[in-house]
Amino acid sequence: MPIHTSPTSWVIETKNTGYAIGLNEAGLLTHRYWRARLPFAADYPAPVNPIERSSFDMPQHYTPEEYPGYSALRYFDPALKITFADGTRDLVLHYVDFSTSASPYPELALHLKDEAYPLSVTLHYRVHEEYDLIARWVTLENLGNEPILIERAFSAKWTLPHGDDYFFSHMFGRHNNEYNMKREVLTPGLKTIESRRLTTSHHHTPWFAIDRNATEDSGEVWFGTFAWSGNWKITAEVTEFASTRISVGLNDWDFAWKLNPAETFVTPESISGYVKDGFGAASRLMHDYVRNILLPHKNQLHKVLYNSWEATLFDVDEISQSKLAEVAAGMGIELFVMDDGWFHNRNLDNAGLGDWFPDKTKFPNGLGGLIKNVNALGMDFGLWVEPEMVNPDSDLYRAHPDWVIHFPSRARTEARRQLILNLGRTDVQEYIISVLTTILSENNIQFIKWDMNRNVSEPGWSDAPGDARELWVRYVQGLYHVWGTLRERFPNVIWQSCSGGGGRADFGILHFADQIWISDNTEATARLSIQEGFSQFLPANTMEAWVTDWGRNVVPLEFRFHVSMCGSLGVGGNLNEWDQADRELAAHCIRLYKEIRPIIQFGDQYRLISPQKSMFSAVQYVSKDQSEAVLFVFRVYLSDPTNLPMIHLRGLNPTALYEVDGYSGPRSGASWMEAGLRVELKNLQSKILKIKQVE
Ligand code: DGJ
Repeated sequence: MPIHTSPTSWVIETKNTGYAIGLNEAGLLTHRYWRARLPFAADYPAPVNPIERSSFDMPQHYTPEEYPGYSALRYFDPALKITFADGTRDLVLHYVDFSTSASPYPELALHLKDEAYPLSVTLHYRVHEEYDLIARWVTLENLGNEPILIERAFSAKWTLPHGDDYFFSHMFGRHNNEYNMKREVLTPGLKTIESRRLTTSHHHTPWFAIDRNATEDSGEVWFGTFAWSGNWKITAEVTEFASTRISVGLNDWDFAWKLNPAETFVTPESISGYVKDGFGAASRLMHDYVRNILLPHKNQLHKVLYNSWEATLFDVDEISQSKLAEVAAGMGIELFVMDDGWFHNRNLDNAGLGDWFPDKTKFPNGLGGLIKNVNALGMDFGLWVEPEMVNPDSDLYRAHPDWVIHFPSRARTEARRQLILNLGRTDVQEYIISVLTTILSENNIQFIKWDMNRNVSEPGWSDAPGDARELWVRYVQGLYHVWGTLRERFPNVIWQSCSGGGGRADFGILHFADQIWISDNTEATARLSIQEGFSQFLPANTMEAWVTDWGRNVVPLEFRFHVSMCGSLGVGGNLNEWDQADRELAAHCIRLYKEIRPIIQFGDQYRLISPQKSMFSAVQYVSKDQSEAVLFVFRVYLSDPTNLPMIHLRGLNPTALYEVDGYSGPRSGASWMEAGLRVELKNLQSKILKIKQVE
């Protein structure tokens, strides 16, 4: 087991990393080490002991505590904040004992308890040795007779090697412009990224990376994410004693949880790792973890899909969708997905959400007629739903106006003319489970796109079972319960997570969904950057990418295909307007994609030249056995036609010989990687080059 224990010291080892904790002389649970793995357990440094410097800088500030509560003379960002029943807002945690377990993954649990009050706190560590990742979470248990109020419960505080000279990388954005990378100097104080929107959000991504001088291919990187689809918070703090710490957890903004006697509260997982060789290596570890550990359908290739949204908007019916399906099938599409507009009274965004049965005018025979046609064309059928939402103009809202998130004394702010059902409520959960069970049992549906098109407002819950501010967490727990129940009932269905594009992309939702719709922006040149940001923490097979008509007068169809072929390929253009040449090109690209998709969806991804930094970019995927690879190169616009950068391949076996499409003679992997190659492209041209080992 990769966990070494003694009565006062714990060392967790993965394939390449070591993480050490220990009790210092004052009995404080202290972080000791997180970096490259060392040969012997005894090699890891001893815990720092408290030194009192002045009455203003007390020992706690010098000691990197593993999970500090808010108490005594601690002014840095605490991991836990509690109010006990008598009003005491001070937490004095003492180490009690530890336990370990081995299955399904090695785990360490450190048990702490408040010195006077009946609160037990367990710090959990799950070790994913192969992926150099550690998952941390916390369980709080009320051992007394009176409620305890939790005001903050982070999942982990990660301490970096001593120093205040780090860079913090994170991603920000908005609807239609997700996953912009930012790398900035960390200075003393707190830097916060977060979501207060009820969902993960387009605006910040629950991912971070810390480095000193790392590049894509070299240098130390500490990185992590939070497996949660609701409000979250990541803070990076540099203290006055040059200690750098990252806190990860549920957002404490407007949060409180009443922990009743004998109850437990379990936080979601904060998953982090360390690499020596750059941002690319960090991403690849996360990709493998997602594909091998998280996803419901591991190792299942995703089908090429067609989605009707951009072609038809709400204007769907059996005849027109069947016509699109025919064209799609002719191009080699394998899964036909009908988007918004199919259900009762849904002609615009102003009505229908909540009434999940086929609109009688558009589908007089139910969905069965269309599905039969789609299946007869040799394709699977998929359907769009947005079950967490309701339009005020719907039978559901008229029957249950109290089911939405609201304050009774306030107007209910609409966004896209819809309100949010309170998924914290069990009656709402049961309703959604029951309507979706009906749809899925009555129809031959292989794929569900689950959408969510607004953020929260007036977050009230007047008859909440506990503190009304539990809404933030209970909503997501309810969502997971609904999705989990449906997954159990329909294990073969593939689910896609969408929230107006990339508003719900996180490790939490990937316990249920196999794919993510990462942006409503389908313009190919913008998409290059969005896709690259997404790849920082999520693999290509989870990234649904459609070829649409957005930018068609400027960006060639082949370029648009090549961009989407970097993920899980889909088509979303209006096929009725695609001429014969377009359809033939599409069929050709889809054929090629089917040939190379195992490498893209399951291989190692190397970001060679970043589209977020350059108008000429390249990305490569290499099969796990290094025998095959695919290189994508894109030139958006360069004013100098002669000065194209060299492309240095990555991930090949240096001593094996490889052929690259269109380049004469085999060369060693080392040569393709070190000497590189030049790919000639004009503005708005792209190329896919296949790479094959020949010896
Ligand atoms: C937002 C999604 O991101 C789109 O792809 C589409 O499904 C629309 N919602 C439908 O309302």
